[in-house]
Order: sequence, then C-alpha cells, then structure tokens
Amino acid sequence: MDSQKLAVLGNPVAHSRSPQIHQDFARQTGVELDYRKIVVPDGKFHEVAGDFISVGGVGFNITLPCKGDAYDLAELRSKSATRSRAVNTIVAGAAGGIFGDNTDGAGLVRDLTQNLEWKVANQRLLVLGAGGAVRGVLWDLLQAGPQYIHLYNRTSSKAIAVVEQLGDSRITARELDDLEQGYDLVINGTSAGLSGKVPDLPENILGKHSHCYDMVYGSGTTTFNEWCLSTSKCEVADGLGMLVEQAALSFKLWFAEEVQTRELIVSLRETTRPMS
Ligand code: ATR
Repeated sequence: MDSQKLAVLGNPVAHSRSPQIHQDFARQTGVELDYRKIVVPDGKFHEVAGDFISVGGVGFNITLPCKGDAYDLAELRSKSATRSRAVNTIVAGAAGGIFGDNTDGAGLVRDLTQNLEWKVANQRLLVLGAGGAVRGVLWDLLQAGPQYIHLYNRTSSKAIAVVEQLGDSRITARELDDLEQGYDLVINGTSAGLSGKVPDLPENILGKHSHCYDMVYGSGTTTFNEWCLSTSKCEVADGLGMLVEQAALSFKLWFAEEVQTRELIVSLRETTRPMS
C-alpha cells in the first residue's frame, strides 16, 4: 500500500512536533505514513490546502494562524468545530465532502481526566484568556460537566463575546474583582507565558486543593505554573499531554485506530526544548 499523505499546515510549522507524534502512532498501528510540515504563506491557505488534497493528501492538521481558514474550507463540520469556529483536523475524503473537526478541546479533557486523573465534572473552573486557544476548548470543557466555568480575560469585552456565543448558563465572564476563592481547576489559555509573563491575578483564586493547567508547555515548569506553585501548594500540569491527545483524536478520525499515548508523552517530555 502507498504511504498515507498527511501534513500539518500553518505558519510557522518548523517547531511542530506533529510529524514525530503521528509517526509514533503510525508505528503502533502499522500505517505507513508520509507526514509533512507545510508552511502557509499569508492569505494562501485555501490554495495550499487544495494543492495538498489534489496530490492525494488524506487529511491534515492545522496550526496557528490557520484554524479559522480551515473552518471555512470544511464543507462538513463537527459540533466542536462549529461551536469554536476553528478546525485543527481536516479529513479530505470524507463521505459528503471535506470534513473539519476540532480535537483540541477533547484532547484537553482527555489529558485532564484520563492522564492526570483530575476531575472536571461538578468542579468549579476558572479559565484564563479569550483568544483562539481558549475558544477552541470551551465547548468540550462544558461537555465534561463542570459545575460552572468563570472566564476571565484582561480585555473583558472579549470574554463577554465568547460567553455570549456559547450561550450556556454554566459559563460566565468575570472581572478580576468578582473572581472566587480557591477554584478547583484553573486553566491558563493566555499567551502571556510566551513573553515570560503571568496574567495579573489575585492569589486567593488558588487553594491547596486547586489544580492548575497551563495549555502551553516547555522544557521546564511554565511561567504560569511557577506562579501557581509559588502562590499555593496546588498541583500543576502543562499542555504537552493535550498536544499528544489532540493528535491521537485526529489520528482516529483518519484511520479509525485508537493509539496509546502515555509512553509517547514521557519520551516527548525528555526531548522538549526550552520555550522560546
Ligand atoms: P491564541 O490564539 O494563542 O489564543 P490570541 O488569540 O492572540 O492567541 O489570544 C491571546 C490571549 O492571551 C488573549 O486572551 C490575551 O488577552 P487580551 O485579549 O487582553 O489581549 C491573553 N494575553 C496575552 N498576554 C497577556 C498578558 N500579559 N496578561 C494577560 N493576558 C494576556
């Protein structure tokens, strides 16, 4: 059988771990894979995606800043993609047309509940940020049955707009002075850590029982998780597991195969470079 052509499309993609992750899944399942990294020049997503499909690409992953373009490309969309208006996985040859899904949120929930064995159901959640990364996971977080989600963003109008679009009474936008004390689970989806910063937050949002998840990852403890650990004796985790789980869900969409992720997460952890 010819190798299955897959790719990750975005800009930049040089840093992407997706080829390594999907080659591990391919090894586990006996699929022969040709997985490429494709840089998408500004405004060229539809052209680049169309070219890849026309040379036999069975599907692809989409990373920043192209998830909205991929949403537009999809002719059929999962509920998660529709609700987040973002697509991170395309299945090119699906019955009925190009299918788009967003596995980021389900990947996050799998990492939280299965790998880390943290609870989401009936828990009090605080989610930080209201950009693309957060919009991509909120619907799936709500499906996991939290008691409620408070959404805080530095620019509150964005958090209000995100909440309005979701239309679920369990999620509300909050200002700094109406955050609660000691959330069960705090998820950082801001990009503040990429410039070595932490959102300005009251320390009492964390208690000893709190669990803190940073959606980014790096070679050591992330800036946000450092802040959490210095503020409270909480448990922390970063987004490496989410990265692997969202990929596992993409792989399942393409090949209907369930893959193992635990060992891969451990080996990626050992080879993760410092955050730039
Ligand atoms: P992404 O696609 O990674 O979500 P984005 O759409 O640019 O990127 O969103 C970045 C998010 O991080 C926003 O919620 C942003 O807050 P604003 O809407 O107020 O800009 C948040 N963010 C970035 N730097 C931050 C900082 N230093 N403190 C607090 N929030 C920050």
